[in-house]
Amino acid sequence: MASQIVNELKYLEGATLPILHALQENFGYVDRRAVPMIADALNMSKAEIYGAITFYHDFREAPAGKRVVKLCRAEACQSMGCEDLVHYLETKQGIKIDSTSPSGHLTVETVYCLGNCALGPAALIDGALVGRVDKELLDAVCAERPHERMEG
Ligand code: FES
Repeated sequence: MASQIVNELKYLEGATLPILHALQENFGYVDRRAVPMIADALNMSKAEIYGAITFYHDFREAPAGKRVVKLCRAEACQSMGCEDLVHYLETKQGIKIDSTSPSGHLTVETVYCLGNCALGPAALIDGALVGRVDKELLDAVCAERPHERMEG
């Protein structure tokens, strides 16, 4: 499937990003094991492909959690307390920013400006734009973790 995507898109001008986007859309992330195949198909180095994956924050190198919070940490949201939310997630909820929780329930990522500055702190929660994010909302998003642990 991955090789099919690469072969279909490799003739596009500037094919690297379309291929990476297509892989992420199909698999939810860009597996490191695909890098040599992409590099070969595009006659580029593995470092160039890997550089593109790490440069663009939209690409994931591992599957995301069931819930995904993209928390804005740009200037306007900083002035509205987004760093307090980051601290809260890390200390009270044990969620490492820019990673997925060990249970696989939650991925929290940093983004810089969602265009919702007037309603900061802003976030995309499972793809939905949310303003005035607070600790209670984050608690609710995190809440399934203990339940999942019991099932696992
Ligand atoms: S700075 Fe956070 S939405 Fe613009």
